[in-house]
Order: sequence, then C-alpha cells, then structure tokens
Amino acid sequence: TGAVTFDPGFMNTAATTSAITYIDGDQGILRYRGYPIDQLAQHSSFLEVSYLLIYGNLPTPTELAAFDNRIRRHTLLHEELKGFFGGFPRDAHPMPVLSSAVSALSTFYQDSLDPFDDEQVELSTFRLMAKLPVIAAYAHKKSIGQPMLYPDNSMNLVENFMRLCFGLPAEPYDLDPTMVKALDLLLILHADHEQNCSTSTVRLVGSSNANMFASISAGINALFGPLHGGANEAVLNMLREIKAKGMQPEDFMEKVKNKEDGVKLMGFGHRVYKNYDPRAKIVKATAHDILSKLGGNDELLDIAMRLEEKALADDYFIERKLYPNVDFYTGLIYKAMGFPEKMFTVLFAIGRLPGWIAQWREMMQDPQTKIGRPRQLYTGAGERHYPAR
Ligand code: CMC
Repeated sequence: TGAVTFDPGFMNTAATTSAITYIDGDQGILRYRGYPIDQLAQHSSFLEVSYLLIYGNLPTPTELAAFDNRIRRHTLLHEELKGFFGGFPRDAHPMPVLSSAVSALSTFYQDSLDPFDDEQVELSTFRLMAKLPVIAAYAHKKSIGQPMLYPDNSMNLVENFMRLCFGLPAEPYDLDPTMVKALDLLLILHADHEQNCSTSTVRLVGSSNANMFASISAGINALFGPLHGGANEAVLNMLREIKAKGMQPEDFMEKVKNKEDGVKLMGFGHRVYKNYDPRAKIVKATAHDILSKLGGNDELLDIAMRLEEKALADDYFIERKLYPNVDFYTGLIYKAMGFPEKMFTVLFAIGRLPGWIAQWREMMQDPQTKIGRPRQLYTGAGERHYPAR
C-alpha cells in the first residue's frame, strides 16, 4: 500500500477525474462542460443546463423538448409517499425531510436500483428531476399548514415548483414571470460545482454501488451544513441580527476579525475561489434589479453591500483572499420571492440536483472507479491488554 499522504479536508488530493465542471479558483472562472457560467446565465435555462451537465452537450430543440416532456411525466408522487410528510413535526426543517423522502424513493422504485442498468439509471434521473421540486414544495406546504397541490404538467419544472409552493387549491395561481426567471437563473448558478462536499458525498456513497436515490439523499444531508449549502440561510440570519441590534457593519467586522464566539462573515470565503466567485458576481449584478421588481428588503441589501465593501478593503479579508461566494446575496432574493429562510438550502438542493446526477453517472461509467476508502493516520493507544477481572 505504500506511504499514506495526510491531507485533511482534501486540500490537495484529487479523488477523481471529471469532464463536467471546470473551476479556476485564482481567476474566478467557472464553466459547465466548457461553457462559461455567465454565458449560460444569460442565454440558457435551468432545464437546458441540466441536460448539458447530464449528457455532456447542449441539446437540440427536439432533444430539449423530449427531456422536458419526460420530466413532466414523472412529477406525481406516490400517494403513500405523501403520507410520509405527516410523520414529521410541523416545524421540521425541510432539508432532512427532503433527504428522507429522496431516500424513501428507493422503497417505491425497487426495480430500478441497479446502478449499471442504463435504462433504469435514465428512469431514476427523470424521477429525481421531476419529484425533488415536488417533495421540496410539499415539505414547505406541510410546515405552513397548507394543502399540497397536485403538479400541473402544463407547466415546466420551475413554474410548477413555484405554483406548488405558493398556489392554493381555492384560487388560480398567477405565475410571476420575474420570479420564474430569477429562480431559473439562481438554479443555473447552483447546478454544479465539481467536487464540493455534497458532490463528493454523492460519489463516495455511490462508489459502493449504492443506487442514485441513496447517494443523492446523502448529498442532500451534506448540503444541509452551514459551511456548505446552509450558508445562504445563515447569511440572512446574520444580516437580520445586525439590523435588529442596530449594529454598524464595522462593529460586526471587528467581531469577525477577532474571531469572537467563532463568528464568521457568512457568505464569504471559499475553498477553491481565491478571487471573486463568478456566481456571486452574477447574483450581485441582478440582486438590485430583482429586488426592486419583487419589492425586497433594501435595508438588508444595503447592510450586505456595506459589509462587502468593508471586507474587500480590509487586510484580514485581503490577506486570506476572502471574497463573497454564491450564498452572500441569494438569500435576499429568495426572501423577496416569499420563501422562508428554511427553504433557502432546499432551493440550493434543487439547483444542485443535475450536478449530483451527472457526477454520479460519470462515476458509474468510469472504469477507473473504485470504492472510496480514505486512509488514516492512527493516533490512538498502542496495544493494551484487557485486564483480568
Ligand atoms: N469569515 C471570516 N473568516 C473566514 C471566513 C469567513 N467567512 N472564511 C474563512 N475565514 C478565515 C478562517 O478563519 C481562516 O483564518 P486563519 O487562517 O486565521 O485561521 C482562513 O480564513 C482560511 O479559512 P478556512 O476555514 O481554513 O478555509 P476553508 O477552505 O477550510 O473553508 C469555507 C472554506 C467556505 C468553509 C469558509 O470560508 C467558511 O466557513 N465560509 C463561511 C461559510 C460559507 O459562506 N459557506 C458557503 C461556501 S460557498 C457555497 C457552497 O459551496 O456551499
């Protein structure tokens, strides 16, 4: 086995080759399958980006329509799965509800669990793409005590999700095109990010030949953490607290710099980006526009912008190359759309789903894949003898 290299947090260890996403953290470059994120953000749609990530190339219009149609045909949840939502406390956080429900999909589709059966993998892909937004919307409805609506397959994935989250059975739901467009853009920005914590989790679980539902359920749990997907919720809480306490951004920065109570500037810093996160750049550029159209909270946006301005001019942040990441401004937009804080990370999960699927599929098809099994450096006791009693 040879010498073992010690690399906590995988700072320098590549665990896989991958042809899906390219990041240059020093330059602040992000490309999906070769296409720069800003071009996709401007011209593409979440559905098209999902196809691109999963199949490797942009679809023709016919391919995109077929992809869209197949997803629409799988939106219904098994009625028994709906019963499942009643088993959680009313104030349950929707992330563990989401991961549990995705895990439970393995029990409803027991014939499609072979990770090497291409047809079944394709079916699981469509089921997940179609059902995750529905599960997410139901977790939300349950938490606010409202009835769950059936999906309306005349709508696409993003439109349907909006209606399932905000519609009521008693009245027609008017889609707000600004909101649909804004959410579509945010989902594109979250769709993949190479070997981040949740994607690596999906791969590690899948490397044991676990099925796609089980692997992605694990990824959702990894995303729940505040250092990963949970950061968008944490940012909004931070901004709120600064406002509620009437704090000046400068005073909050002092706390961060002195590492008082482990306070961090949430939404700042990244393992790979040592430059402005290109996704954050796009969100920031659109935040003002979207917030003015949706009537968002300008005061919190002002606090966020002042924090950013201070941070970018501060030696602490400059020396450590800490820049805003994708989560810094997204929460403000989600809030303006009407999503409660608890749903923010769920939105991240819906966005990241095609990336997880693409990475899982790439791994399963890769002849180099081996079961993931990190080594350790043992630091415990030497041999001890069990005392005679
Ligand atoms: N505020 C204050 N100090 C920070 C921050 C921050 N947000 N991020 C890093 N630092 C400091 C950290 O304390 C350390 O300082 P020192 O050298 O004095 O010990 C130095 O910068 C290096 O940071 P690190 O924690 O060793 O870096 P990492 O690559 O292990 O962690 C990170 C990356 C994203 C977990 C971290 O920057 C962080 O906790 N940020 C806040 C949470 C956040 O916004 N997460 C979302 C990440 S982007 C979306 C996603 O992928 O989920």
